[in-house]
Amino acid sequence: MSTKLKHKVCIVTGATSGMGKAIATSFVSQGAQVVLSGRNEERGSSLAKELGENAFFLSGDVSLPEYNDQLVKKAIEHFGKLDIVSMNAGILGLGNVTDLPLELWKNTMDINLSSLFYLSKYAIPELQKNEGSSILINASIAAFKSFPNHPAYCASKAGSLALMRQMAVEYAPKIRVNAICPGPVDTPLLWDSAKAFQEPKIAVQNAANTTLLKRLGKPTDIANLALFLVSEEASWITGTAMTIDGGILNA
Ligand SMILES: NC(=O)c1ccc[n+]([C@@H]2O[C@H](COP(=O)([O-])OP(=O)(O)OC[C@H]3O[C@@H](n4cnc5c(N)ncnc54)[C@H](O)[C@@H]3O)[C@@H](O)[C@H]2O)c1
Repeated sequence: MSTKLKHKVCIVTGATSGMGKAIATSFVSQGAQVVLSGRNEERGSSLAKELGENAFFLSGDVSLPEYNDQLVKKAIEHFGKLDIVSMNAGILGLGNVTDLPLELWKNTMDINLSSLFYLSKYAIPELQKNEGSSILINASIAAFKSFPNHPAYCASKAGSLALMRQMAVEYAPKIRVNAICPGPVDTPLLWDSAKAFQEPKIAVQNAANTTLLKRLGKPTDIANLALFLVSEEASWITGTAMTIDGGILNA
């Protein structure tokens, strides 16, 4: 059995699908104990069952401060401590500035940005108690590059990097804080994003072809980087936003 995260207790949000699921699965395979966070009861319970006694599912909405508090309490209650927080939950909130309903703007900021503040707020006092703690934010290349109909998404992801860097400064050397910035990855969210185009399949194919490496990312590509960044191998990395995008930002 691989042991890169042996004795580490983690929270993974957005763990019931896409990249969060791949990350949670990878962390457990490396010996970690993981609190899985997600909204879908059925998918969460089934993943927890699949991963076995080292996984525990708590359903809820990350935009609510009290749910984030509960996630931290659950990690302590169930596994005794907290070492790593991997924040993946996110939505697109599509629509241009003049059309985007106020409620959707607010909801996107709450889920993609405020939730990072909430979970960090409750997790940091626990993370500070242990050696080798870290926080990992799943941002996006949308933090650097603008896409039509993504004003809330781009703004929230850029904000998440500013928060990441600020927390890296504030909580060093005890806690490392980093972000990953994926390009197009084959997940339900990418296909939702493609619905903004007349021909979603072609839009996704175009995204794949535009990458230098001529393919979409796989959730496991992202999980490999996430594992590296939270592991001891990255012990001199903090305050960094790493792109993982098949080269699309350079295309
Ligand atoms: N797929 C891509 O191409 C891509 C590219 C760059 C960044 N990202 C980011 O990666 C992260 C993971 O997305 P994904 O692509 O794996 O998509 P996904 O839709 O499979 O996963 C998103 C997860 O977030 C959860 N979530 C959404 N709102 C929530 C809420 N209010 N409370 C709790 N959970 C909530 C969903 O249930 C889902 O499990 C997101 O933050 C997304 O912005 C995705």
